[in-house]
This record gives sequence, structure tokens and C-alpha cells, in this order.
Amino acid sequence: MKWLTLFLIVSCSQTSTLSSKRIPAQEGYTACHEIQEEVLIEKVDLRTLPRTFSNVKEHVFKNNCISCHYGPDAYQPRLDDYDSTLAYINLNQPDSSRLLQTVSEGRMPPSYRLQSRNPEAFRFLRQWVQEGAAP
Ligand code: HEC
Repeated sequence: MKWLTLFLIVSCSQTSTLSSKRIPAQEGYTACHEIQEEVLIEKVDLRTLPRTFSNVKEHVFKNNCISCHYGPDAYQPRLDDYDSTLAYINLNQPDSSRLLQTVSEGRMPPSYRLQSRNPEAFRFLRQWVQEGAAP
């Protein structure tokens, strides 16, 4: 298992909502200085992973969609639920699935294009749908 280390500059005026494992700020750290945080992100090779719903959830949805599509009060589709996700997939015409179209048109996630930010994740999602969206 490989670990990728990223350095983020977090300004004190912002509320940071990073949920990844993080190294705590050092003692004596005072607010209103820029602090450097080290975030550890697990790096996996998506090409070697079986294309299943649980892997799509773990490696695509969890990083890009969780804030709005997880849980009973979330926007539809609930992407933490297989049947709810399947309702947005057309197995006869995978590429016209609402799930794939909203992502490839850049409507979802709303703030960036998944193809640009994480082409591997986009490819993994598309292939999973094209291959029949296994659970
Ligand atoms: C910041 C919040 C937010 C994030 C993050 C987000 N969505 Fe959404 N999503 C919404 C909202 C709000 C709607 C309902 C309104 C709309 O369709 O624009 C929606 C609707 C959808 C729909 C239904 C579209 C339709 O035609 O009915 C799909 C499919 C979807 N999102 C997929 C995703 C996927 C996949 C991701 C991650 C790659 C994602 N969303 C990330 C907020 C978000």
C-alpha cells in the first residue's frame, strides 16, 4: 500500500473541513498564521481493483460526492446505496445513464470536473457502469 503525502496551506481565516488523517498542529501554534498541514491520502491503483459498487463507493463517491449524496437526508440519488444509485443507471444504454451524463457533462460534482481532477476515478466509474454496474 502506497501513501501519497500532500501539503496544504490552510489560512486561519478559513474553517478547514479535512477529514483525512492529519498531523495535528504543533504546540505553540498561534492562530492567524498560515499553517502547513500534512495530509495522508491512501493511493490505490484503480486499474487493478474489481469494478464493483463497493469499490466505486469507496474510491469515487466517497472522495467526490459524499457531502451531498450520502445518508437518508441527502440529495437523490443516495450514492451510499446500491439500489438508489442503480435507479440512475440505464443498463441497456450505459452511456446515456443519468449518473454518467451528469458527471461527464461536468454538472456533478458542482464545483469541478471529475475528468480533469481525477481521470482515473472517472474512468473507473464509467467502466463500472458500462460493464453492468455490479454490486
Ligand atoms: C456540493 C453538493 C454536491 C456534490 C458534491 C455532488 N452533488 Fe450531485 N447533486 C447535488 C444536488 C443539489 C442535486 C439536485 C439538483 C440538481 O440536479 O442539480 C444533485 C443531483 C445529482 C444527480 C441527479 C441528476 C438528475 O438528472 O436528476 C446525480 C446523478 C448526481 N447528483 C450525481 C453526483 C455524483 C456522481 C457526484 C460525485 C461525483 C455528485 N453528484 C456530487 C449536489 C451535489
